[in-house]
Amino acid sequence: MSAATLQSLDINALLGRFDPAAGTIEGARRTERRLSDLAGIFLDQAAYRAARADGDPLVYSVEVVEPGTGDGDLHYGLGVIHPGRVGREYFMTKGHLHSWREAAELYIGLSGKGVMLLEDEATGESRMLPLGPGCAVYVPGHTGHRTANVGETPLSYIGIYPARAGHDYGVYASRNFRCAIIDEGGAPKLMRRNS
Ligand code: F6R
Ligand code: ZN
Repeated sequence: MSAATLQSLDINALLGRFDPAAGTIEGARRTERRLSDLAGIFLDQAAYRAARADGDPLVYSVEVVEPGTGDGDLHYGLGVIHPGRVGREYFMTKGHLHSWREAAELYIGLSGKGVMLLEDEATGESRMLPLGPGCAVYVPGHTGHRTANVGETPLSYIGIYPARAGHDYGVYASRNFRCAIIDEGGAPKLMRRNS
């Protein structure tokens, strides 16, 4: 596919008007993830079942703009993760690797208090980095990434990545990330999972 050009793009592709509080970008494609979509990712399964018995809250939404599909093009998304807990874990995203493993991504925090969990695919080395206003997180290629809201208000951010990155959810659907982010005395802590 050829790259988008200035002439081939309409104003809606060139200008993104977004509302970080509502988590919306005019004309964008929206995906919503509820607690029921996140079965199996939380450590405390009893706490997950108890939370599900109470309902099926919206955990996060992402609105994505995909102006072009060429190798040099960029896509971006506005994510909003709502505050909440399952046991000692925070509401968080499913997490993924990019299908084109070389693809990096830049996350820019807009509001709220978050952290990102980065996992090197080859070594398994894991890191936790803050995400919020004034914080940008560079996710290198070959790095699994998951985002958690560790505050009491919605966490919103923008992620910008190559158009050809793609999303591979399969790896973490089958084995989860090696580490979890848990609340320890009111602060997020990186903890190795047993399984
Ligand atoms: C895109 C990207 C973000 C996520 C969003 C939701 O490459 O990393 O826009 O898609 O944070 O997370 P997932 O996709 O893991 O449900
Ligand atoms: Zn990504």
